[in-house]
Amino acid sequence: MKIAVLPGDGIGTEIVAEAVRVLQALELPIEMESALVGGAAYEAHGHPLPESTLKLAMDADAVLFGAVGDWKYDKLDRPLRPEQAILGLRKHLGLFANFRPAICYPELVGASSLKPELIAGLDILIIRELTGDIYFGQPRGRRTATDGHFPGAEEAFDTMRYSKPEIERIAHVAFQAARKRNKKVTSVDKANVLETFQFWKDVVTEVHAQYPDVELEHMYVDNAAMQLVRAPKKFDVVVTGNMFGDILSDEASMLTGSIGMLPSASLNTKNQGLYEPSHGSAPDIAGKNLANPLATILSAAMMLRFTFNQTEAADRIERAVSSVLASGLRTTDIWSEGTTKVSTRGMGDAVVAAITKTITKG
Ligand code: IPM
Ligand code: MN
Repeated sequence: MKIAVLPGDGIGTEIVAEAVRVLQALELPIEMESALVGGAAYEAHGHPLPESTLKLAMDADAVLFGAVGDWKYDKLDRPLRPEQAILGLRKHLGLFANFRPAICYPELVGASSLKPELIAGLDILIIRELTGDIYFGQPRGRRTATDGHFPGAEEAFDTMRYSKPEIERIAHVAFQAARKRNKKVTSVDKANVLETFQFWKDVVTEVHAQYPDVELEHMYVDNAAMQLVRAPKKFDVVVTGNMFGDILSDEASMLTGSIGMLPSASLNTKNQGLYEPSHGSAPDIAGKNLANPLATILSAAMMLRFTFNQTEAADRIERAVSSVLASGLRTTDIWSEGTTKVSTRGMGDAVVAAITKTITKG
């Protein structure tokens, strides 16, 4: 099991360090090698995704990724900005299927901004297509307009596009995931306005014919954004494009109380995966030992489950996290009256201790 460890920027280094300690505590035959990525790599090598980092990632079975980005890089040319590292990894590794679960831990029901009864027991899975759509569609750029409302004016443009095979493969991923859950898929589109998403809807409907045991519903993205805060438990698996998935997964994450709790997995056709927390690099709290490492630790569990088929070890991490939460330990983002505040390191220590206990118990 070869893992490329790419901590990145901001809180990335702190949270990844804890996930690495958790992986080590499992005493599995894992090989880990680290490299710089994002702003850190730009500072050292002049590029957010240096050749050597990309090669390490491509040669590994899985990538454990922290986070990239800092406001101080906002003025750099786009190809040099930290965000290009994660976009480049997704593209070069072909990581088209992005899993973003939003699970509400019973202990954290009070940490959500929504009423407890709306989110208690919430368990939804957002499946975001990750290598197509307006994020990667060509052409894009700036030019002088020759038509539109202001011919002759400076303008910018991007291209939203999806090919049939791109939609088919993500639809299969969604239906197969739903089969292992509550057998319901909500496909989110904007078919009432966009040609790309009328096509999306048609292709998903076609693929659905192979999954008669799974219920399929279609929903416009604006309505989906509303339903997510109105009655989130009505969803099971949500499948959507790159752009809508970016937005809806941030929204869904806050239903659970803290984005600091949510892991994610991005897979290609060879089951190679990149595993990262759903949150960003949080430069405002970087280096302060305050960040919640649980999203990254749970991402390591997803790695064991999805790429390495180590169900037992993945369960062990997830059980350890639950027991630590049950014992009342909280980082500041999930802290509430009556619980005990711990640092990033303190939370990592507690998870490692919980895992070590289960190992010695046999
Ligand atoms: C995410 C992030 C990225 C995205 C950025 C950092 C490029 O917001 O993983 O959701 O937009 O995909
Ligand atoms: Mn995002």
